[in-house]
Amino acid sequence: MKSILVMNGPNLNLLGQREPGLYGHTTLADVETLCHQAGDKHGVAIEFMQSNHEGVLIDTLHDAGKRVAAGEMIGVVFNAGAFTHTSVALQDAIKGAQVPVIEIHISNVHAREAFRNHSYLSSVATGIVVGFGVKGYALAIDGLVMKHGEETQ
Ligand code: DQA
Repeated sequence: MKSILVMNGPNLNLLGQREPGLYGHTTLADVETLCHQAGDKHGVAIEFMQSNHEGVLIDTLHDAGKRVAAGEMIGVVFNAGAFTHTSVALQDAIKGAQVPVIEIHISNVHAREAFRNHSYLSSVATGIVVGFGVKGYALAIDGLVMKHGEETQ
């Protein structure tokens, strides 16, 4: 069974208690459950991680690239949190590792502060899901499976 890696960046471990008006009351553990349900629907195994450290996220993307090349992994669903708006290094990692990434944001980053309107990841993402709350993770998994199906046809 192929897998999809769901990656979460800084502060997403605080989901549920962090700015609930913006991000809701769902915890990251609930999001993991939701992702497993979406994966089951497609017969895809879900791996799930969170880190507050940019270097850990970069290493994880490099590893994912190797696993995609080996045919074990379809790609990554990535909520990079605030690193989305700051990290050239994450953009370079996605490009360098040649890993298909669906960028996801729980909130509509385009309707928020100007500094959240730009993403360093969007130009190297296969697709983007923004503003659908935590259900966006399931949509991103659906989208990644769909794109993979198109590629392998
Ligand atoms: C976020 C949006 C980012 O701007 C913010 O820094 C986050 C969460 C979202 O899911 O809406 O940490 O990625």
